[in-house]
Amino acid sequence: MKKISVIGTGYVGLIQAVGLAEFGFNVVGIDIDETKVKALNRGECPLYEEGLEELLKKHVNKNLTFTTSYESIKGSDVIFLCVGTPQDKDGDADLRFLFSAVEKIKETIDKDDYKVIVIKSTVPVGTNRKVKELLSGYNVDVVSNPEFLREGIAVYDFFNPERIVLGFENLENKKPIEIMNKVYNYFKEKNVPFIITNWETAELIKYASNAFLATKISFINELAKLSDIVNADIKTVSYAMGLDDRIGNKFLNAGIGYAGSCFPKDVKALIKQFENNNIEPILIRSTDKVNEEQIKWFFEKIKNYYKNLNGKVFAILGLAFKPNTDDLRESRAIKLIDLLLGSGAIVKGFDYVAKARENTINMYKLDKSKGFYGYNLYVLDDLYEAVKDADGIIITTEYNYNKEDWEKIRNLVKEKVIFDGRNILDVEKVKKLGFKYYGVGR
Ligand SMILES: NC(=O)c1ccc[n+]([C@@H]2O[C@H](COP(=O)([O-])OP(=O)(O)OC[C@H]3O[C@@H](n4cnc5c(N)ncnc54)[C@H](O)[C@@H]3O)[C@@H](O)[C@H]2O)c1
Repeated sequence: MKKISVIGTGYVGLIQAVGLAEFGFNVVGIDIDETKVKALNRGECPLYEEGLEELLKKHVNKNLTFTTSYESIKGSDVIFLCVGTPQDKDGDADLRFLFSAVEKIKETIDKDDYKVIVIKSTVPVGTNRKVKELLSGYNVDVVSNPEFLREGIAVYDFFNPERIVLGFENLENKKPIEIMNKVYNYFKEKNVPFIITNWETAELIKYASNAFLATKISFINELAKLSDIVNADIKTVSYAMGLDDRIGNKFLNAGIGYAGSCFPKDVKALIKQFENNNIEPILIRSTDKVNEEQIKWFFEKIKNYYKNLNGKVFAILGLAFKPNTDDLRESRAIKLIDLLLGSGAIVKGFDYVAKARENTINMYKLDKSKGFYGYNLYVLDDLYEAVKDADGIIITTEYNYNKEDWEKIRNLVKEKVIFDGRNILDVEKVKKLGFKYYGVGR
């Protein structure tokens, strides 16, 4: 193997590039974002993932380099496509970045020079076939290799995948299969299951997996609404359900909804794929609808308590879409901040991850130099500063806040009320301290 190129160095591509470098390959990461590329070449990680910067520093300028130029793909045997496939205005996957990268590949490589082009981006069924068509006349094989990493523990996931899914045009053609086996030999040796299948199956596995997990979440979230009214405790319901190993306890925590760069857009893109094939996605559409409603339902709960939110001060604990990441995409905290600000409330936001706080400041274009950061929105570096003088504490991210000093928090807040959007707190403990507690379905 001469060299591997990874196109798109975001959450997926950067970890792929760094991980392959750790396996000993010569890797080039290509991105259109010049600032990102410069930072990466200095060994600075533009996004937060535990352990990523250390690995980057270990390999950068040795067997790992970054560039904005596609020229380097000429010398690569394998080219991974890891560009974003965000949601377009109709809910479909926007494939502009992917197709523009494919165009660049066409402009750059020699028609006769054999390459394996691997699509890691999450793409609707039929996309690998389309990419192959776009590359007709070129000596390439296109491989579908969907990514399953979880942000927050993405480096761990890269080295410990639960399965490797590989979709090929023609399973009789052993050449790309052998090459992918070489690239992923580390996983072969670890006995990770390999699913070798056709393009369409591989593409659908990715959407099916995300939509299933999202449905599990929406299921328990819908149930939580009933639980709330009928004096049941959804956490105990989830626990008891989860003990049945046909059900399992993962993704069964009631909360304020799924978020992030994958579930919301992938569920919507799957709905589109059903629609495009004239099938009504009854269940999956409901999964999406429950999720859209969940945050509004929770907001109503807060509103009902205070009646008038104007001028009320809220501490929002957790800004990113989940713990241990700086990623704000579709974050429920951000949705809630917008709803609260829209009702005249004042928000003091906090997240343990410094980069998540920085991203929030940048997203809202807050001005740090003025002492306060913007109209009614403050992002604070300290949790205790965030809760100080608050009329209510709202938990938006699933961190273990039980480890905080709740006696100290009690003495700092103006009103002792907690809205726990992730059902994470020890209810007895905070109630004993005099807090009123409102969870999701409990
Ligand atoms: N983030 C996740 O947890 C995750 C997990 C599994 C799958 N995925 C999928 O992986 C894909 C990438 O997701 P992500 O979160 O890494 O996205 P991202 O937005 O973090 O990164 C995408 C990168 O691609 C770059 N880019 C865009 N067009 C380019 C081009 N033509 N040439 C070179 N670089 C280009 C962007 O500058 C950016 O750095 C998506 O399809 C996503 O659905 C993401």
